[in-house]
Formats: sequence, C-alpha cells, structure tokens
Amino acid sequence: DAEADRPGPLHGKTVTVTAGGTREPLDPVRFLGNRSSGKQGAALARAALDAGAHVRFIAAHMDIPAPEGVELTRVETALELREAVHAAAPGSDVLIMAAAVADFRPDTHSDTKIKKRDDGTDPVITLVRNPDILAEAVQRRDAATGSGAAGDAGDTSQPSLIVGFAAETGDGNADVLDYGRQKLARKGCDLLILNRVGTSLVFGQDSTEVTLLSPQDSADTVPPTFTGSKTDVARRIVARVAQELETVLP
Ligand code: CTP
Ligand code: CA
Repeated sequence: DAEADRPGPLHGKTVTVTAGGTREPLDPVRFLGNRSSGKQGAALARAALDAGAHVRFIAAHMDIPAPEGVELTRVETALELREAVHAAAPGSDVLIMAAAVADFRPDTHSDTKIKKRDDGTDPVITLVRNPDILAEAVQRRDAATGSGAAGDAGDTSQPSLIVGFAAETGDGNADVLDYGRQKLARKGCDLLILNRVGTSLVFGQDSTEVTLLSPQDSADTVPPTFTGSKTDVARRIVARVAQELETVLP
C-alpha cells in the first residue's frame, strides 16, 4: 500500500492532528472566531505523513485546504472538535493539538438572524467557558493507563504522546518561557510547543519560532528552539515526536 512505499520513523503509527480555528455561532450568519490559519497544523500533518504515519486530521476553520492523504474530519465549534478528538484519540499513538480552540462560546445562539430592534436596545452576548480538550485528553489517557506517565503498560489504545501548543506574548508578570512552563504543568501534556505571539508574528505567517518544553526539563534546562518555515518547524517537531515514541514504547 501507499504507506509501505514510504517507510519512515512513524511507519505503522497513527497520529491525530487538530488544526485551524474553531468558530462559535451567534446566529446562522455570525460567529466568534480567531485568526488561526491552520498552516502549522497542516504542516505537521504533512510532516507526519512524510514520516510514514497514518494521519487523522481534525480541521476547524482553515485558510488553506487540508493536506492530501489524511483521514479528514471537519468541525466548526469547540464542542464539535472535542467530540472528534475524543473519538480519534483511542487508536492513535500521538495526539497533536495545534488547533486554536475558542476559550469561550456564546451561552445561546439564535436559529434565526439577530435583527436590530426598534426599541433602541442592543443585544448583549454572554460567554461561557469551553472545555479544555487537551487537558481532557490527558486525563482520559492517564485514567486509562492508571498512571501519569506516558506509555505505561495497560490500555495501549490511548495516545502515548500528547502534544500541546501555546501562543504566549509575555507581559509584566512573567516572560514567554514562564507562561509556557506553567501551561505545560497545567495541561499535563508530554510536550508543549511554545510559540511567540506578537502583532504580526505567527498568525497566518509562513515562518515561525518555537520552543519545545518537556515535563522532564529541569529549571536550568535550555529548551531547544527552532526557527524557520512552518514546514521546517513541523519536521523538527515530528522528529522529536518520533524520538519520544521510541523512548516510551520499548
Ligand atoms: N486547548 C484545548 N481546549 C481549549 C483551549 C485550548 O484543547 N478549550 C489546547 C490548544 O489546542 C493548545 C493548548 O490547549 O494545544 C493551549 O492553548 P492556549 O489557548 O494557549 O491555552 P489556554 O489554556 O486556553 O490558555 P490561555 O488562557 O492562555 O488562552
Ligand atoms: Ca486559549
């Protein structure tokens, strides 16, 4: 078959990648969205395909087409993405959460277009928190394996490696790296890809700079940082994923 023609470090592995930005509907014609282009997720999927993996690609809104050769699931909202992730994770060796998931959704949405009113009052949108899909995926894996450690014996159908992304700016309270380390600890994932977000940096751009944070890092570890096109960066991330899979799966 096609996969046997290109054996690679992820040959025989299944990798689930989420990409793009979720859209939370207000009414049939309006939504709350974000600026994610889906380029990083698509590049990761291509890099995983090139490494020989079977790729389950869960696409929220993207500015570009989904890569060819993936098992494609399209979603719109964070809640749809959540269902798709929890359906795809069992049987996946790796889960990569590159999607930009809306943190909040409108508490209700109208089935008909919201119209301007004649009484002079304007609508108020109330937001509710979306579930943290990445943290849930980690919890499900850890519950299934009965341990916090990746790749333990037990239920092998849950991903042995769960990779999160973080887009941070840093501020007066903490720098980008501090926020990344805090997020890694909070999510409990096995690898966190830290992106530096500025005004025109990262979103929609073809070039990016990422730092790879691992729960094994000590306070004085200098974590690896890669700069380059999203394609180059995706290859480096996939190489690291393949390397980690080898160490967790004897
Ligand atoms: N993520 C998720 N579910 C959410 C929000 C985020 O699975 N509801 C995932 C993203 O796909 C990403 C990682 O969590 O892999 C970090 O996303 P980010 O927005 O940086 O983290 P948040 O926990 O939402 O923190 P913040 O308040 O900084 O936005
Ligand atoms: Ca967020």
